[in-house]
Amino acid sequence: MARNIEEQVAERLGALVDDEIGESFQQLGLVGTVSSRLRRVNAQLHYVGGAPEVAQRLQAQAEAAVGDLGSVSVELVPLDPAGQAELRERLMTPAMLEARSSRTPVFSLPGATTRVIGVSSGKGGVGKSSVTANVAVELARRGRRVGILDADVYGFSIPKLLGLASMPRVIDDLILPPKAFGVKVMSLGFFVDEDTPVIWRGPMLHKTIEQFLVDVLWGELDYLLVDMPPGTGDVALSLQQFLPRSEIFVVTTPQSAAVRVAQRSALAAKKLKLPVRGVVENMSAFVTPGGERYPIFGSGGGAQLATELGVELLAELPLTMALREGGDHGTPVVVHSPSDLASESLRALVDKLESLGPVRRYRGDLKVQSR
Ligand SMILES: Nc1ncnc2c1ncn2[C@@H]1O[C@H](COP(=O)(O)OP(=O)(O)OP(=O)(O)O)[C@@H](O)[C@H]1O
Ligand SMILES: [Mg+2]
Repeated sequence: MARNIEEQVAERLGALVDDEIGESFQQLGLVGTVSSRLRRVNAQLHYVGGAPEVAQRLQAQAEAAVGDLGSVSVELVPLDPAGQAELRERLMTPAMLEARSSRTPVFSLPGATTRVIGVSSGKGGVGKSSVTANVAVELARRGRRVGILDADVYGFSIPKLLGLASMPRVIDDLILPPKAFGVKVMSLGFFVDEDTPVIWRGPMLHKTIEQFLVDVLWGELDYLLVDMPPGTGDVALSLQQFLPRSEIFVVTTPQSAAVRVAQRSALAAKKLKLPVRGVVENMSAFVTPGGERYPIFGSGGGAQLATELGVELLAELPLTMALREGGDHGTPVVVHSPSDLASESLRALVDKLESLGPVRRYRGDLKVQSR
């Protein structure tokens, strides 16, 4: 039996998915009234605001969804405060409620399965953020649920590397992390002008990191990658406190001077009882199209650091134009030039990271019983 046109319009609009939340408008209860008069259908769709382009994109998607059903006009109606409070209730999982009340990130609650990966370096400018962004995007391409917390509060660069410019949307007091290339991102860069220097004291930074972990609707994640500031500062301490199950990966260039500083940051992590799992050497060599290798920043530093720390050297990423250009244009090299040498090495790095698996933790309370 042919259903009436209003039902069809409501169904099509309800099937639209809010990508950042990961649920359909029907599930979220955001399809408003649908009525018709003189063969013209008027439909309302509620939405949670944000940048104007979010509404424009949604309007275009909604119109495309009902375009073949005749004369249908879709009106976007911003969700009012009462509607936002209701939606917030709907989105809060029991884990989130517990996280909120204890101010503990969901990733640190007992039974949490997200692998939290801190990407650290001694020196700045060694490619830590580029590695973080590319690894995250590659993991997402493989179907993993991935987030990046840009904890480099002084030198945030993840939004730019992923081409994200929009302010996060806020539902009541929940912050929705914007998504790029399938990766959810939270960064101070969304709230602070790029040219504004951030001069903060430790406690304020600590509070911000707490908010980014507890008040953000991360949803369920397989991986949370944390782009840490270079060195051994306050942020590492905050992370240790909020995310004591983090694994640390250290990025260095091959230069011996860089290696010495990287070693210091790795030792600081160890002191905080965060396990250092591996070393990534970046800017290893420049390789000409003819295959000639130029070790511009020297060679052997990554291997040396890995030996000193007793961990594996997971990758030697070459210097390539495509990697730098990808970052400058906001499209990571693994997406923009998948056949580039750097993309190949990054994919191999992700293979290793996945095969390494989460840290096995010794549980003192569990004993092997012999019969
Ligand atoms: N393998 C590489 N090949 C070419 N360019 C690279 C490579 N790795 C990083 N770069 C470039 O080097 C610059 C610094 O990289 P990036 O911002 O990732 O480093 P960082 O360690 O996060 O720096 P910061 O300390 O400023 O946060 C960027 O312009 C990036 O595009
Ligand atoms: Mg950086």
